[in-house]
Amino acid sequence: MGNRMNGEREGMPSGILALIILIGSYILMRFVISPPLPSALTNFFMLFVIVGVLIHITLEDGRIEEFLDFISFRSRLHPIYNVIRWTVFIMIPFFVTYQVYSAVKISYAPPGELFQPHVTPPEWVVGFKVPEWASDPATWGRGLIAEGKIYYENHCAPCHGKEADGRGPEARVLIYPIPPTNFKDPGAIAQLPLSYVYWRVKEGGVRDRQFMSSMPAWEEEMDDEEIWKTIMYMYTKAGVKPRTW
Ligand code: HEC
Repeated sequence: MGNRMNGEREGMPSGILALIILIGSYILMRFVISPPLPSALTNFFMLFVIVGVLIHITLEDGRIEEFLDFISFRSRLHPIYNVIRWTVFIMIPFFVTYQVYSAVKISYAPPGELFQPHVTPPEWVVGFKVPEWASDPATWGRGLIAEGKIYYENHCAPCHGKEADGRGPEARVLIYPIPPTNFKDPGAIAQLPLSYVYWRVKEGGVRDRQFMSSMPAWEEEMDDEEIWKTIMYMYTKAGVKPRTW
């Protein structure tokens, strides 16, 4: 069927539209949604988007034909679309090479099965009620955060870094079994509810049989108020928000 005019088509070719949808969905999931989705979930959703686009294209003969003309360079396109088409096809080998390279590259990260980034909390954590004054990031006062800064810089910055990026001076020697968390990482405290973070600070990772990390337990050294203020500063400095259930 298609609307052919001397071999040049009107409107946007479906190949370009498909590209915009794919790239757009990816950007939306990786950079717009807050808190950001974990990358495994993004890949999973992308699979749906790709399948959706393919189903749309293969639903009508005209679309299939148009799409095949597009990818086989048979259709004449508007110069801009043509440049995009060429760019994409030239990029594909580089993209594949990069994917293969990242898959086979030797990595010093601990294997995933041994070190889940977030250990399973004890039962009390799930039902734990965060104190009213600390529960909503929108109401965290500047004074509380400023106090938290002092605790953070004294107790946490040596490992987690002054910038909350996991690069404190001690971090260099605390690589095994797992390095101090970079709080700016979208997969770290941005994925955690406050009750969970409170538990991790209180009980640490040393006594925790699942983990045995160098993260100290702070319950003897800090009272609850101090811990909450520290958590407020930690999120503020990292520029992320806790997850809500
Ligand atoms: C001796 C180094 C060290 C110090 C000091 C330290 N941490 Fe940690 N922390 C770690 C390590 C290593 C991890 C990663 C392993 C783990 O989660 O147990 C971690 C993990 C965490 C996590 C869990 C993050 C996640 O994504 O699951 C939180 C929250 C945390 N630290 C907060 C703090 C706070 C708040 C302080 C200061 C009161 C602090 N840490 C002081 C080493 C340290």
